[in-house]
Formats: sequence, C-alpha cells, structure tokens
Amino acid sequence: MSSTVITNIATLVTNDPSLGRGSPLGLIQDAAVVVDGDRIAWTGESSKAPATDNRVDAGGRAVLPGFVDSHSHLVFAGDRTQEFNARMSGRAYSAGGIRTTVAATRAASDAELEANLTRYLAEALRQGTTTFETKSGYGLTVEDEARALRLAARHTDEVTYLGAHIVPPDFAEDPAGYVALVTGEMLDACAPHARWIDVFCEKGAFDGDQARTILTAGRAKGLHPRIHANQLSYGPCVQLAVELDAASADHCTHLTDEDVDALANSSTVATLLPGAEFSTRADWPNARRLLDAGVTVALSTDCNPGSSFTSSVPFCIALAVRDMGMTPDEAVWSATAGGARALRRTDIGHLTPGARADLTLLDAPSHVHLSYRPGVPLVAGVWRRGVREI
Ligand code: NIG
Ligand code: FE
Repeated sequence: MSSTVITNIATLVTNDPSLGRGSPLGLIQDAAVVVDGDRIAWTGESSKAPATDNRVDAGGRAVLPGFVDSHSHLVFAGDRTQEFNARMSGRAYSAGGIRTTVAATRAASDAELEANLTRYLAEALRQGTTTFETKSGYGLTVEDEARALRLAARHTDEVTYLGAHIVPPDFAEDPAGYVALVTGEMLDACAPHARWIDVFCEKGAFDGDQARTILTAGRAKGLHPRIHANQLSYGPCVQLAVELDAASADHCTHLTDEDVDALANSSTVATLLPGAEFSTRADWPNARRLLDAGVTVALSTDCNPGSSFTSSVPFCIALAVRDMGMTPDEAVWSATAGGARALRRTDIGHLTPGARADLTLLDAPSHVHLSYRPGVPLVAGVWRRGVREI
C-alpha cells in the first residue's frame, strides 16, 4: 500500500473537535496530511510530516474533508424547466410537480436513468462531493422503485427508499391503497436495495399518521428512517422524526419552538437544503435558531429536477452563510461532519487518523472562500478513498 503526503496546506480542516482553537473545524495552519491506502494516517504541521513514498504540494491552498451530501434525488429522467420558468414568473411551488418527473422516469430505460445519475455524480464530484445519499421516489410502482434503488446502489451505499414521495395519479382515488402498497409489496421489493426509508410528510403528499405507518413498516424490514419534514408548512413530522429516532429531519423550514426543542434533545440531525428555498423562492430555514438551540445541522443539496436542481454543495454553503445565519465555519462543518452525522457515519466527514481518505483541495487559502467567493469553481482536487479523481 503506497503512502502520500500532501504538504504546504495553508489551512487544513480536520473537524477534529479536540483541536479546539475557537472553531468547530479543528483547523491546522501550515499543515500536511498523510494518506495511506484509503485512510488518513497522519495530520499535523507541515514541518513535522513523516517521509512517504509520494509527495503532493498543495501550493499554500486549503484542504478539507470531501463534502457529504446527505440528501439528493438523482434517479430521474427529464427536467422541469417550464415549471421553474413559471415559478420565476410568480407561480407557487407545489408537491404536484413530482408527477411530471414520475411520468418521464417510468418511460426511461435503465441505461438512460443510469447515464443521468452518473452525469450528476460527476458534476457533484467536480464540486468536491465524495459521499452522497440518493433516493427513489420518481417511480412509484413496485418495479420502478426497485429499479431506481438497484441503479443507485451501484454508485453509493447510502440509498433511500422513498416510495412515499407522493400518491401517484394511478392511486389518486385510493391513497390508503397506495400506503398499503408502499408498506407491503413495494417495501418487500425495495428493502434489499436500500439502507434508509423516507417519507415526504407534507400537505399534498403524506400526513403524520401515514408517515408513522410507513416508517414503522420500513423499520420492521431493517430500514432506518429519515423524513422530509416541515418544508412547505408546519406539521407533525419533525417531532415524529425525533420520536422514531430518525437519522435526519430534512428541510425544517417551518419550525415551532417545540420542534426546535425536540431536535435539540435528540440525535436527529436537522438537514437544511437551501437549494430548495432558492429555486422555489421560499423563505430560508433559520439555521441560526437551530444552532443556538444546540441542534446538529447538516447542509445538503436536495438535488432534484423540481425544487432544487443543483448538485453544488459550495453553492449551498454560500446561501447558508449569506441568508441563513451560519458562519462560514459552521456551514463547512455542516456540509462535511454534519452530513456524516445525518448518515450516522463515523468514517467520513473528518480528516483524523483512521478516517476515510476523502479530501477536497481548494484553489483558495482557506475554506472561508467557499462563501466569500460564491459561484467560483474553487475545487482544484478531489481524493476519494485515497485515490485522486480530480
Ligand atoms: O426534497 N420534497 C419532496 N421532494 C423534493 C421535491 C421533488 C420534486 O419537486 O420533484 C424535495 O424538495
Ligand atoms: Fe428532497
């Protein structure tokens, strides 16, 4: 197994809390990292770096853990340009647009769906994402949901069954029948391909009781819950997420004080998805309120063709800092360590010895430039499992 030292790093983000120094990021200046095989072997000051087989000069730039995008919807066909255009002319976003993508996805071949998926993954990698979660939810038949998960599982371990994205048109008159399908035959077909189960708990999608039934059925089949909660309106699903020990309550745009308290006293992460508020011209989630209450916050893209068609974590970091009350350090933590927490992973999201060697090199002297220089392609290098891919 060969080892590589990356030297001359102006700012290294380790996310090692024991390094303290006033930032959650465990910053080391004038740093080096040693990568051994697919793991981090050493981090510290450049002058103390041990000898290795290979050497890479970071050129006085910043290195941080690869982004962990813990919420995306990448198995789909078609796009929703017209819907976006209409929204930007004043029309409101509604969950109903999902049906457009369901029709296009059902009509697509496996090869077409996988080509789309790999294209969006390549986009994400170029922007520093080294781990991503992705969901089904645009098939909504037994075969189409299982197919989406099978395709996704070829590319990531973090696969989520979202048969409960919306009640499809074929069940418009029988939503209870659709819930029975999602918790019965569809779950049986999908559970072997997924790690997680998710429900879009929202007006126009599924209510709290339906969400509880669906997530409980998934749990009985070995899937762990996460929930689309309180995106478009207040509702019961943040508290349901806490009650069921969901790994994450996602969106969290409309929160009562009780919702915030429940999250703060739980191990459920609040995953904020500012790409959705950007693309739907909605009010921003209040990250400051959550952080001040002690809630663990993750930041992800929600990449999907309807409400958030961006694969860029740096873009979401910039939005979170500018408009959601996060500091640049908090936003970077949430997009790395926070994402890892939302996936209940301890091997990623930090650069400490033993962690997976997933690193992003920025063409900038510090991680702050991710929000200071919005829209600029700053990612200059990406290593995944110790292999340089960009
Ligand atoms: O996370 N909220 C539900 N699902 C997506 C929207 C999907 C769509 O509009 O196609 C979301 O925003
Ligand atoms: Fe989503």
